[in-house]
Amino acid sequence: MMAYKFAIDEMSTKINILKEEFNYVHDYNPIEHVKSRLKSPESIFKKVYRKGYEVSIPSIKENIRDIAGIRITCSFISDIYELAKMISNQKDVRVVDCKDYIKNPKPNGYQSLHLILEIPIFMSDREELTNVEVQIRTIAMDFWASLEHKIYYKYNKEVPSHMIEELKDAATIAAQLDRKMERLNKEISEIKQADDEKEEVIFNKYNLNLGFLDAIIKK
Ligand code: GTP
Ligand code: MG
Repeated sequence: MMAYKFAIDEMSTKINILKEEFNYVHDYNPIEHVKSRLKSPESIFKKVYRKGYEVSIPSIKENIRDIAGIRITCSFISDIYELAKMISNQKDVRVVDCKDYIKNPKPNGYQSLHLILEIPIFMSDREELTNVEVQIRTIAMDFWASLEHKIYYKYNKEVPSHMIEELKDAATIAAQLDRKMERLNKEISEIKQADDEKEEVIFNKYNLNLGFLDAIIKK
């Protein structure tokens, strides 16, 4: 369990560095919030039995890949892929699995990008390769997933089919909202960039004039 706790610490540091550096260089923060959780031994065993895995440490290490879990909420869909690329490209990170439930949502409408990563944890006498599950999603995807989970959590009988349909509709609406926000963000970025370029032309002209004036004065 200690290795998994360290894996969360390690990944959290990586994410924080990316967040701060990205903010510094691009004056923009793609991460809304980050949450992490360590699966309890009880949940680990429940999952082992549910999935019918062998009950042994090597089997748990190999099969239960979400003992260390991190959830990152981003502002826009494009941020999700950019962040996933930045994390995956790090030298000590190996991507074991990637499930893109954004391109291929689950039948119930669930959307997120799931990465199963393997990172080395350096202990006093050994290096332990440890799995971490990183879920990356937008605020709208997170909103849907959190509430869907709550709805099912409170109701443990079979969910009426009209509700399943309605939840799926809600997921479609959330995805529409994401696409709209992304488009608006892109549009304003383009306007901002055009403005910046215009300002730069004016600024250069102004500097040129100043230089010209300076030359006249010197004459
Ligand atoms: P688990 O046994 O739950 O770990 O599923 P899995 O090993 O098949 O992996 P999968 O990528 O499908 O899901 C992993 C995690 O994603 C879950 O533990 C949830 O946190 C989240 N998730 C997946 N599907 C849903 C869903 O339909 N609704 C919600 N709210 N969360 C989901
Ligand atoms: Mg899980």
